[in-house]
Amino acid sequence: MKYDKIRFLCLLLCVMLAMSLFAACGENGTEQTDDGQQIAVGGDSQNGNSGKEPDDEKLSKPEIDLDDPYMLLVNKTHPVGKDYKPEGLKEIKYFASDRDASTRYMVGDAADNFHLLVEKAAEAGHEIVMTTAYRSYGFQTILWNNYVAKHGEEEANIFSARPGESEHQSGLCTDVSSPSVNYQLTTEYGQSPEGKWLSEHAHEYGFIIRYPEGKEDLTGYQYEPWHIRYVGKEAAAYIYQEQITLEEYLGILD
Ligand code: DAL
Ligand code: ZN
Repeated sequence: MKYDKIRFLCLLLCVMLAMSLFAACGENGTEQTDDGQQIAVGGDSQNGNSGKEPDDEKLSKPEIDLDDPYMLLVNKTHPVGKDYKPEGLKEIKYFASDRDASTRYMVGDAADNFHLLVEKAAEAGHEIVMTTAYRSYGFQTILWNNYVAKHGEEEANIFSARPGESEHQSGLCTDVSSPSVNYQLTTEYGQSPEGKWLSEHAHEYGFIIRYPEGKEDLTGYQYEPWHIRYVGKEAAAYIYQEQITLEEYLGILD
């Protein structure tokens, strides 16, 4: 009887020792980020894969249909015409009220998914609103002319598109902002709690950060953490995983 008791105590001691060793390794757990979100840390969970091999989750490149309207490329070398106006523009519900009301539109799926994104961001404690989304050729002309008058053509073209060359004319993108940067469009947005949430979650709603940092040579524009472009969830997930631009994804680099 006494022998059994000692054996039991030894066993218990071994289990406790094993458990404390495991905890000390700190392999898995949660941690609080700067913006108060709980994130998993350690092991595979750093890749968001919680317990699976990272490669198990690696997405393969989706097949690209260049005729898919959500794949439309608008940039300096692929402009749209003066009269191009997308079909199925829908009014956006969440906007900064001091911006022009004529720009509060995006194409169907893009608008619906933008609403979802804003609602999920709010659940996570972040206010994100659109500043301008669809911009007509005429609207872009006014913007562009103002920037050229102020900064000269070459400098203006680093942050603003010539009329016809702006993705905003496609109705597939929007600029967004948040209270922490006073609803301004500033590169600091990328380091704000809302901007960080956006860059980590936009793809879940089919959006990409269209002009990423370090890819200026490919996109032709400066880093714009506020400009998100709808490409659909499959493409967005892949682009996010590979950290590439839309130009690279489409293989259109001319
Ligand atoms: N700021 C982006 C490049 C545009 O004007 O479309
Ligand atoms: Zn923009």
